[in-house]
Amino acid sequence: MKSLHNYIIPVLALALAACSQSGSQTDDIEKKIDHLLSQMTLEEKIGQLHQITSMGTLEDMCAQAKDGTIGSILNEIDPERINQIQCAAVEESRLGIPLLIARDVIHGYKTMFPIPLGQAATFDPAIVEEGARVSAAEASADGIRWTFSPMLDVARDPRWGRIAEGSGEDPYLTSVMGAAMVKGYQGTDLSNPASIAACAKHFVGYGAAEAGKDYNSTNIPMGQMRNVYLPPFLAAKEAGMQTFMSSFNDNDGIPATGNRWLLTDLLRDEWGFDGFVVTDWNSAGEMLNHGFCADMAEVAEKSMNAGIDMDMMAFAYTSQLADLLKAGKVKQSQIDNAVRNVLRVKYRLGLFENPYIDLSLRDSVMYAPTHLAAAKKAATESAVLLKNDKQVLPLSQNVKRVAVVGPMADAPQDQLGTWTFDGEKEKTITPLAALRQLEGVTVNYAPGVAYSRDRRTDGIAKAVAAARQSDVVLAFLGEEAILSGEAHSLADLNLQGAQRQLVAELAKTGKPLVLVVMAGRPLTIGDEVDKADAVMYMFHPGTMGGPAIADLLWGAANPSGKLPVTFPKMVGQVPVYYAHNNTGRPAYGTETLLHDIPLEAAQTSLGNTSYHLDAGFHPLFPFGYGLSYTTFEYGQPQLSASTLGEKDTLTVECQLTNTGRYEGTEVAQLYVRDHHGSVARPVKELKRFQRVSLQPGETKTVTFELPVEDLAFYGADLTKKVEPGQFSLWVSGDSQSGQPTAFAVE
Ligand code: BGC
Repeated sequence: MKSLHNYIIPVLALALAACSQSGSQTDDIEKKIDHLLSQMTLEEKIGQLHQITSMGTLEDMCAQAKDGTIGSILNEIDPERINQIQCAAVEESRLGIPLLIARDVIHGYKTMFPIPLGQAATFDPAIVEEGARVSAAEASADGIRWTFSPMLDVARDPRWGRIAEGSGEDPYLTSVMGAAMVKGYQGTDLSNPASIAACAKHFVGYGAAEAGKDYNSTNIPMGQMRNVYLPPFLAAKEAGMQTFMSSFNDNDGIPATGNRWLLTDLLRDEWGFDGFVVTDWNSAGEMLNHGFCADMAEVAEKSMNAGIDMDMMAFAYTSQLADLLKAGKVKQSQIDNAVRNVLRVKYRLGLFENPYIDLSLRDSVMYAPTHLAAAKKAATESAVLLKNDKQVLPLSQNVKRVAVVGPMADAPQDQLGTWTFDGEKEKTITPLAALRQLEGVTVNYAPGVAYSRDRRTDGIAKAVAAARQSDVVLAFLGEEAILSGEAHSLADLNLQGAQRQLVAELAKTGKPLVLVVMAGRPLTIGDEVDKADAVMYMFHPGTMGGPAIADLLWGAANPSGKLPVTFPKMVGQVPVYYAHNNTGRPAYGTETLLHDIPLEAAQTSLGNTSYHLDAGFHPLFPFGYGLSYTTFEYGQPQLSASTLGEKDTLTVECQLTNTGRYEGTEVAQLYVRDHHGSVARPVKELKRFQRVSLQPGETKTVTFELPVEDLAFYGADLTKKVEPGQFSLWVSGDSQSGQPTAFAVE
């Protein structure tokens, strides 16, 4: 093998030249692909459609690269090895086609940002974009040029462990955050060596897994598919998304990887996507388990005919495509087309001009101070204040002794959250470490329980003793990172282990009790909320969670996050989400609960409405909810017109005043209800939001522009249009408050 030194310098020079000619044109790329295709053997073509995980020896991988039998490798992160394997592909293979190196960089590479659900709680697409940009800079410095992110699965079931990886329950919020991530990863110039290709996953419907059990079947009817599950993917495509990943689930019996309507009719023909589609890990092979294919030949045939370009780890294409071609079951043009899609993305990434990693960059990029600052900002903005009785927060300067308890106070690995492959716990700053830095504050640390599932109660007495010696109790509760994420669904969403008992005992001390919960999902913490004076929900906040929390508790920062997902009181309420349709008997009027019912009451349904007798009408906290140390008052929205045509744009202005004592940021949310349609419409839908910062006493006018076409939806005939009629509009601080203003579309 040649010495890397020989080619790094000329290659970098070439790359710079290529960057300066950026915009290197579509036609040009297509011509280059034509030229390559005309020279490629069938084996080399199939190689481009084959992704392996890093496995075997370096020599094995180099040999495959040299033979042109692989197109992409995932999970190889040693930059020197990557350069060597790339060298084999570029310098030693017949046609010199570079490999695409991939990794799940989901919410950070080294510098870990909050989990995506926490990032969604910021309602701040700018910080989400910045987080993805940081991830791209760090990952690409190790040679990774493709991430399997963002996850765009709308998720309305917190039992599903992967709810942590997405933006929650709302299609609009998920669309905005997803597009921000695409922009961050891919930058303005994909061929910049610090840009990486993004991947829209999991296409589609995966978040609707029955019973929240991972990998489970989904049964999403077409109207819901179009109105709820597909929009974030379309928004990502519009933002320039380069790759899509087919999901594991079958929807109404058809596994996504074998779904031609999804991957070809919709994605290619209707949406005009021109990047490539990869399977999820062995999702092609799993079509055997689904009972959708009888053997691997059928797996490969159905995958190719559906529109899968690259097979991740099923080895279906390498083992079957040549025979299928001979048998006439797949066409040469289909294979060529798939290869073309893969090569197009490789060209756009500038991999042909600049395949190697500049090893000298690494040290200055990983955990750069600007990256840590961005991660801290994201963590700070992700905090959702759920309760703050008697303004116990922010802690006053008179608080000198704090009891720090709970399993998440000093859990550096767990606060990083799921999908932390590369972020290091040694670099994580925990709340305990951050609080110990505060001057003039004595920290009495006694965790009470050692880790979230710890059922032992013998440490609780010490935690209670620490509480008694302190002015305030800060209890850090939640879930270990491994309790959410892929294949980690739960049926019980209460705090695990002895944490509930810990809270109960701490509450008995009568000391002000502040809970900080770090979790991968909404937890059913109603009892604990009742017992506490203040509750701040963080989701897993990442590397800089500790300093963010210290700032928030002492008022150097003011919470501004909002819930990206409804919090149920109990699991039996699930699925519970704000944008539900109305029933014929919507819950309103008197909330008769289980124990209000007289003994031997006569059977009747009259006057009764749609809710659970043991949970009542409402969730624990609604979507969009989140308090601040200050208070905000909304004026009644003023609309530019009360009747609009389909081509008009509605301008909505609303006065927002900071009526409290602190500077703060409020997320003003605009919801709309379409009263009647050819199909029943959700009771409310988020259409816009804006973060607004206000000094105490300050009033600002918040302005939203809402084109009427944004009210379009897929109705009874499954075409997308605005249906004229009456609408209500709210501008409010969550999905349940505010007074509606009416308008009409003619
Ligand atoms: C997950 C994907 C991930 C892939 C590659 C699968 O198990 O479902 O989200 O990108 O593995 O690691």
